[in-house]
Amino acid sequence: TETIARAREIATRLKPLEGPLLPILHEVQETFGHVPASALPAIADVLNLTAAEVHGTMSFYPDFRTAPAGRMVVKICRAEACKAMGGDALAAEVQERMGLGWHETSADERATLEPVYCLGLCACAPTAMVGDTLIGRADAAAVLRAAGEDTA
Ligand code: FES
Repeated sequence: TETIARAREIATRLKPLEGPLLPILHEVQETFGHVPASALPAIADVLNLTAAEVHGTMSFYPDFRTAPAGRMVVKICRAEACKAMGGDALAAEVQERMGLGWHETSADERATLEPVYCLGLCACAPTAMVGDTLIGRADAAAVLRAAGEDTA
């Protein structure tokens, strides 16, 4: 299939690197948004490894996904009570660290950023919601952590 051909092409191109497996897995994930199971035998074949060895390495590192990530909706409250408690700064920092403006979706389709007008949790302002999880007294680090984004 197309997936296998692309994976093989990436593996062949990066094979000359020292320790090529991780860079190959990273590029495959960047290309497909995850590392499809069907790509593993092709990568293994190019590197003269078994598919089990490739899978073992992959499962050792939490940053590889084996399935497409669902789109995570990150909402930041933009209403009065939250604004009064630093909601603007929170929104600006989340936007900057996610590299997204309102209503934008990341290139890998993992996350969408949305403004929301009161989450009914004004007493715990500023607030955010990541997926189904409400976050009170939110700061950018907590929001990004809940969204599974790297907070480094
Ligand atoms: Fe933000 Fe109500 S104003 S939760």
